[in-house]
Amino acid sequence: MIDYFRRNIDNTFFDRIKLEDIDTILDMGTGTGIIAIFLQHFKSLNSNFNPRIFASDILKESIKCAKNNERLNQSSSKIIYLQSDLFLSFPKSLRSTFNIIIFNPPYLPSLPKIEEQLPKKKIDHSWDGGLKGIEIIIDFLKDVKNFLNLNKAHYIYFISSNRCKLDELETQIINLGFKHEKLEKTHIFFEDIILNRLQYIPG
Ligand SMILES: C[S@@+](CC[C@H](N)C(=O)[O-])C[C@H]1O[C@@H](n2cnc3c(N)ncnc32)[C@H](O)[C@@H]1O
Repeated sequence: MIDYFRRNIDNTFFDRIKLEDIDTILDMGTGTGIIAIFLQHFKSLNSNFNPRIFASDILKESIKCAKNNERLNQSSSKIIYLQSDLFLSFPKSLRSTFNIIIFNPPYLPSLPKIEEQLPKKKIDHSWDGGLKGIEIIIDFLKDVKNFLNLNKAHYIYFISSNRCKLDELETQIINLGFKHEKLEKTHIFFEDIILNRLQYIPG
């Protein structure tokens, strides 16, 4: 994700959107905070890039970790944090707000035996995307349009893997009304990781 942003954000454009047209960004599932902190750093270097940057995670431990990393990276607490299961606890005031939404989700299929027999541990949230690996992504996609500012240009970026049920995910993406582009594919360790970009086309 960050490699792509490094190559496709410059002093004028965030990918293909003008920097000054971006006023609100969300890093969903922020974990260590790495994506939000990267964007915060870019913001500190570019006077025409001045969005509010939100970072959310289901785990309070992730929020604590991201806040700590933000401090260690010497950015003086400007990221706005939300602890929420996807968009469930987002305030209504954030509806129809975001131009850029980024999610590196848990996308690997659950191990069925573990799913049935053991309660989910907190750390499982980092990788366990549901039995097919796509359930969290689909739940995210069902709600994300409500939080996009559809009066302006917008992009949703998310990661998927050839280890999850990509055909079924593709069908859902189309049924939910998104234009879908696969930007990059990288083979890492045991999987092909895909960077996806979506736009919601109200129909
Ligand atoms: C693969 S990690 C990505 C972490 C970080 N964004 C990165 O790219 O390194 C997935 C993150 O999503 C969070 N997460 C999992 N399920 C979530 C949910 N339902 N709502 C919000 N965050 C969730 C996890 O806690 C974890 O921090």
